[in-house]
Amino acid sequence: MLFSLWLACAPKPQAWTAPAPSSEPDAFLVDADFGCFRDWEKVGHSYYTSVVGDPAAAAQAARDNTPFPVGSVVQLMPNEAMVKRHVGYAPETGDWEFLKLQIVKGQTVITERGTTEVKNLAGGCAACHSASAESNDWVCSEGHGCEELPGFILKQAEKAVAKDPRCGESG
Ligand code: HEC
Repeated sequence: MLFSLWLACAPKPQAWTAPAPSSEPDAFLVDADFGCFRDWEKVGHSYYTSVVGDPAAAAQAARDNTPFPVGSVVQLMPNEAMVKRHVGYAPETGDWEFLKLQIVKGQTVITERGTTEVKNLAGGCAACHSASAESNDWVCSEGHGCEELPGFILKQAEKAVAKDPRCGESG
């Protein structure tokens, strides 16, 4: 019984189609690319890294408020991420891909990914984040024009980051 309940709740493995190889830089991330992100650079409430070129490039862009380079990855909480894909990936979201993640037995599973169609309980990712599209390349952070997240959500995010099982026992 418990096992079948677990099966019902377990995310279905998804066969994401990787893009055809290209000489253009891109960042098509898979489950194994996500993990403990507490070691990334924190700017404001969120954590930044870059998987193309200099890993510090994304945090630098966040601090300087310049457009994010391809390969920038941002997480505020363990179950959501934004990744800057190749130039021309999605003009409607400034080439950002929005991802929803679950942590199952200490491993990340990407459960949804895409652009304008991805949403959480508060609404569409892109719909909210577009408020900062012009001013801050879709990164809401604080004071960038997005509808602000309630304090309890930020608290929850902080707790989830502190307890992230992917960071190891002592992490
Ligand atoms: C109700 C509006 C809203 C919705 C819907 C929303 N976000 Fe956000 N998101 C925000 C705000 C506001 C912040 C900034 C929080 C802060 O730093 O105080 C944020 C922060 C983030 C960050 C950290 C980078 C940044 O922009 O500051 C990521 C990554 C993120 N959201 C991903 C997502 C994803 C993925 C979805 C959809 C599954 C989503 N968000 C849906 C409002 C929203």
